[in-house]
Amino acid sequence: MSIVMDDVVARESRYVLQTYKRNPVTFVRGEGVRLYDADGREYFDLLSGIGVAALGHAHPALSRAIAQQAQTLIHTSNLFFHPLQGELAERLANLSGLARSFFCNSGTEAVEACLKFARRYWHTKGSPRAEFVALDESFHGRTMGSLSITSDDHYRAPFEPLLPTVKFVRTNDPASLAAAVSTSTAAIVAEPVIGEGGITPLTPAFAAAITEACAKTGALYIADEVQSGLGRTGHPFYFQALGLQPDLVAVGKALGGGVPIGAALASQKIADTLSFGDHGSTYGGNLLACRAALTVLNEIFDNGGADHVKRVGAVFERRLRAIASTHRVVKEIRGAGLMWGIDLNRDATAVVPAALERGVVVNRTAETVVRLLPPLIISEQETDEALGRLDAAIGAVGAAS
Ligand SMILES: Cc1ncc(COP(=O)(O)O)c(C=O)c1O
Repeated sequence: MSIVMDDVVARESRYVLQTYKRNPVTFVRGEGVRLYDADGREYFDLLSGIGVAALGHAHPALSRAIAQQAQTLIHTSNLFFHPLQGELAERLANLSGLARSFFCNSGTEAVEACLKFARRYWHTKGSPRAEFVALDESFHGRTMGSLSITSDDHYRAPFEPLLPTVKFVRTNDPASLAAAVSTSTAAIVAEPVIGEGGITPLTPAFAAAITEACAKTGALYIADEVQSGLGRTGHPFYFQALGLQPDLVAVGKALGGGVPIGAALASQKIADTLSFGDHGSTYGGNLLACRAALTVLNEIFDNGGADHVKRVGAVFERRLRAIASTHRVVKEIRGAGLMWGIDLNRDATAVVPAALERGVVVNRTAETVVRLLPPLIISEQETDEALGRLDAAIGAVGAAS
């Protein structure tokens, strides 16, 4: 395949709506944790397409399953049964402890479904509650409902007015949460590990405050596990590590390993308040997406992937802390499993090109944070080599500041 980078950029800038500021790289191929650009240069992918390619690139079992399903039947719509949705929902129920799944196509749709199901719950109960309580570092997606519970003004302001019934509280501040939640609150929404907002796990004290506020007021808890779920932290879901019991869980990103699929998981209590026609999706949970998701879950949870994340995650953390100790520009390391943020005491933008130059893909989030979401299959040796290169990139940026 011969690709001229200038042609790619020229055609995009002429025809594609300019909502993304892309890095100047064109990837054409991947294998495991490695990506290759149009010139054949190799990169360690420490981002997985923002937490999506959990099995890495061109995974043999996943590519085989997708190809076989595509040659058999891709889509029939939700007007008909097919054999895979129930199987995937059962798998997710066993992993999460939540009874039922609704399938959609993205993280924001999963969150949107959770918000609607929470409203529907209170409506069916005959005591409607409209209000949501969310966190001030949250990110839940770009559709109007998800945006309404996303705090960053940069994302919100051009699209206001959004839902007026949202209160934001300080992340990991139990008193702030307790003051905001009342018997008007339909649901508290929180990512168990805040992702876009800078990779911040909720503290056990804050998790306990969520449980207490829900018990006191009847408010539901929606866990947004779009980024932190499905083995990323070494647990099926991070709410489990925190001892939380959500009524609804939003899932996306890694679920299809790159094939778009999301899911809203609901407890039986919520499921009992929904009726036919309350929500829907044309594509949601089609055969291709379900086949991909079943393969991903099989690889992560049946073939030792989650234990691998715990083991390599510990190596990853040790190596990151060693790197942090040698660079004054690093303020803090935060995360769990294979979900890490390196918080700098300066804007982290310059680390991204410095890492690319050294053959490592990372991104910046929350201005000062270098975000690391490697494929869950990364080995100890690959971790060592990739983080060695990142160490050099941080050194170069730190020295230049
Ligand atoms: C926690 C969380 N929720 C929701 C979303 C939105 O997902 P999507 O971009 O698939 O709509 C994201 C995306 O980054 C996310 O990190």
